[in-house]
Amino acid sequence: MNNKLYILFGSIAATALMSGCVSRGNNPGWEYAPDMYYSKGYEAYNQGDSNKVNPYGMNMREPVAGTVAYGKLDYKYNLENSGEGYEASAALLSPADATLEDGRGKYLYDIYCTPCHGANGGNDGEVFKKVSTLKPAWKAYTDDYIKTLPEGKIYHTLTYGKNNMGSHASVLSPKDRWKVIKYVKLLSNQSVAAAEPTTTDSTATTK
Ligand code: HEC
Repeated sequence: MNNKLYILFGSIAATALMSGCVSRGNNPGWEYAPDMYYSKGYEAYNQGDSNKVNPYGMNMREPVAGTVAYGKLDYKYNLENSGEGYEASAALLSPADATLEDGRGKYLYDIYCTPCHGANGGNDGEVFKKVSTLKPAWKAYTDDYIKTLPEGKIYHTLTYGKNNMGSHASVLSPKDRWKVIKYVKLLSNQSVAAAEPTTTDSTATTK
């Protein structure tokens, strides 16, 4: 009996002692460097708030000029958006992994290019149908112009745009651009590659 009482009082005393040392509730005790606990949550896209470090109170900053983010080396494109740049782009070669195998070239072409150039590159997309003045001089991808157009020049056009065609750099990564180019070349040679089951569209006969 006595033993049980000792244990009871003992544990009450111990609890009282321990809860005396350990802080309660949300109080973590003394803070030696509060900044480390409560970091200021800057909003990435905000500007002009209390950011004292960056100019204009910006939170997000551009990368240092001339630097390339890790793993983004192929985003570096040295040719200028000019006639000379376009001519020089003829020498660009597609990377070895730019193939049609994964179907991504066709997938992206169907999304971004068909509105103007049509499902098979016949320049019969809805936009060109509605505003025929937008159409280029060449009639279809099967024209010799596109057949013989260096892939590098198409890359240049996809990157910067050309006259009525806008830049696609924001929607196609460099690798994707090359894949789409491979698909354009496939379409341009479709009379040659007719055996390939790439298109089942009824407009396939459009020249
Ligand atoms: C808004 C309509 C439009 C869209 C969308 C469009 N194009 Fe074009 N494209 C044009 C026009 C217009 C030209 C003719 C530009 C010129 O030479 O004046 C052109 C030219 C081209 C050329 C010839 C480029 C050269 O260097 O002469 C290629 C190849 C081409 N487009 C491929 C594509 C591909 C691939 C896509 C999709 C990623 C695409 N286009 C999306 C309107 C478009």
